[in-house]
Amino acid sequence: MTSQEKIEILILDDEKQFTEELHEFLQKSGFESFETNTYPDARKVLDNHAIDLLILDVRLPGINGLDILKEVKILHPALEVVIISAHGDMDTVIKAMRLGAFDYLRKPFRHIDIQIVIERTKKYLHLQRKLRQVEERNSLISKTLEEKIDRHFIGVSQKIRKVFDAAITAAQYPDANVLITGESGTGKENIARIIHYSSGRKDHMFCAVNSSAITDSLLESEFFGHKKGSFTGAVADKMGFFEVCNQGTLFLDEIADMPLNLQAKILRATEEKVITRVGDTMPVKTDFRIVSSTNHDIEKRVEEHKFRLDLLHRLNTLHIHIPPLRERAEDIKPLVIHFTDFFGRKFNRPGLSVDKEVYKALEKYPFPGNIRELKNMVERAIILCKSDILTANDFPLKSHDHHPHGHGAHSTNLKIQEIELIRKALVSKHFNQKAAAEVLGITRDALIRKMKKYNLTIGKSEN
Ligand SMILES: Nc1ncnc2c1ncn2[C@@H]1O[C@H](COP(=O)(O)OP(=O)(O)OP(=O)(O)O)[C@@H](O)[C@H]1O
Ligand SMILES: [Mg+2]
Repeated sequence: MTSQEKIEILILDDEKQFTEELHEFLQKSGFESFETNTYPDARKVLDNHAIDLLILDVRLPGINGLDILKEVKILHPALEVVIISAHGDMDTVIKAMRLGAFDYLRKPFRHIDIQIVIERTKKYLHLQRKLRQVEERNSLISKTLEEKIDRHFIGVSQKIRKVFDAAITAAQYPDANVLITGESGTGKENIARIIHYSSGRKDHMFCAVNSSAITDSLLESEFFGHKKGSFTGAVADKMGFFEVCNQGTLFLDEIADMPLNLQAKILRATEEKVITRVGDTMPVKTDFRIVSSTNHDIEKRVEEHKFRLDLLHRLNTLHIHIPPLRERAEDIKPLVIHFTDFFGRKFNRPGLSVDKEVYKALEKYPFPGNIRELKNMVERAIILCKSDILTANDFPLKSHDHHPHGHGAHSTNLKIQEIELIRKALVSKHFNQKAAAEVLGITRDALIRKMKKYNLTIGKSEN
């Protein structure tokens, strides 16, 4: 749709007189319209114009109109189709509606009928576009970047916007090393990729390495490469990560677990930007930026002498901390919508919706596994839910002793704690309300009010 008012319409019907008349009428009514009498001609128009609405006669000679409907819906998913059917052909109409036709017109029809149908389509297309805009606004990265990094970055909270802005700043300084910290599953690798693909290094390698997953004996060769014959198994010359990432980004995942001997070698390589392959004598220049990440308290590791302070200083020229999901409850709803859409497509379950109780429940949950946990939850819910509406029951939440800090979550948590305290006081005082009130530091009347408020009917009523 070129603008809110203008929609582009294509007519496909084998009766030339009919298409000419309708075309003329549509043009007079202010629509951009095209008329065709064969499917190949219609295809050409569809391929070359942003058609919003196809008015399709399903009874074309030599070809099944329903097959055309199926095909155009696949090739042009945003296109809406209104079919023209003959009197008494309800069967075809039903089939067409099931295949995704938006509406139908029965021949012969009046101009007013077609006007009504077009108005309805226009309204629908307008709503669709609005919805897409809302979805796109929740995503903080551009579509092109999203396609490149093959990931999404959804978020609306102030906290995540700050993280995103910091990533974009880091992208503008392609030689500064960046340390990303945050709990497990908060999106550290996501941010590392955004930094790389938004930076001047984007056309070179992004190489993600989890050094704690590489065996000790291979560590050096993996990072620095080796010369053929330098050890058993070195059957050819091989580049290591530092060389592979020349002009690109080396992402060191979970650096806190990196062995100390490797830390010393990495420090030297980062300082000198020159490396020597195992078994070789010729040093090689390489230009890389290190983005590293950890979900541990790295300063504590330094205190415990498990991580070199000089290396930490080298790696955290820029530091980005991603707050846990429970501290940015506003992001939960857009993330749920995004993951529902994502898995809905993956599992071919269009039209899924989410009951608002789900958001309420999730906003109270502390998410120890952060976004990864939420993503898995939505995937599981969709697989197990047999209807088209995901409800709170589809999201079984693990009990937790971890207290949520989210906004809405906080007050409910307080309420839960208050109920718990009242229960404990009553039990410890054998349900004597006066004594329990004393323990709680409130009057007996206040205790009774609270018990009524929270609907607590435990224990005896008299002291
Ligand atoms: N803002 C976001 N929007 C959408 N999806 C996200 C976002 N952040 C993270 N994800 C998704 O959550 C999952 C976990 O993200 P990622 O692997 O980047 O986390 P991590 O912090 O590196 O985790 P770990 O500490 O376990 O290595 C991924 O599937 C990622 O695509
Ligand atoms: Mg990670």
